[in-house]
Amino acid sequence: MTDLPFMQKSAEVIKQLMEGGGGFLTVATPDEVNTMTIGWAQLGVFWNLELLTVAVRKSRHTFWLMERAVDFTVSIPWEDCSRTLAYCGSHSGREGDKFIACGLEKRAARKVQSPVVSLRGLHYECRTAFKAPMDTRFLNSEMESLYPQRDYHTLYFGEVLACYETD
Ligand SMILES: Cc1cc2nc3c(=O)[nH]c(=O)nc-3n(C[C@H](O)[C@H](O)[C@H](O)COP(=O)(O)O)c2cc1C
Repeated sequence: MTDLPFMQKSAEVIKQLMEGGGGFLTVATPDEVNTMTIGWAQLGVFWNLELLTVAVRKSRHTFWLMERAVDFTVSIPWEDCSRTLAYCGSHSGREGDKFIACGLEKRAARKVQSPVVSLRGLHYECRTAFKAPMDTRFLNSEMESLYPQRDYHTLYFGEVLACYETD
């Protein structure tokens, strides 16, 4: 395991999210752990905090869990996980345990309750610092077209407590 500055691999992270099939957003409540595929995220600084921000639509089971949890993790694979990412991006944790269905392993996180996905890749452990449901009054017309079902995102700003690579 190699600790890294949180922005060190930002270009590779965005490439994997946008072109490589995505990453895993994993969240645990006391009763349940779930993971889902994400394609959008932001790395940056607000409030003097190093942040990883994710966007979760209200229809996701993950949304329900994020609203109850205090932290989350994001795992970015450097190996080919395309089948697993496709599964976790098209099946809901409401229907069954995706870790079992995909043969995915969890690995305990170092600083947060939510585990990471055990894979060769980069992991962010995040404590939710702030959340912002989209205020639809401020959407321009092009943005509104992304939401024909009005299934808007909530943005979760996670303070990055640990960032590391695993083999
Ligand atoms: C490549 C890819 C990227 C995705 N990115 C997001 C995302 O950033 N935010 C989101 O809410 N859903 C995203 N999804 C959809 C969710 O992964 C999908 O609806 C998933 O089944 C939700 O699982 P859950 O109900 O267990 O939370 C993405 C799906 C794919 C295939």
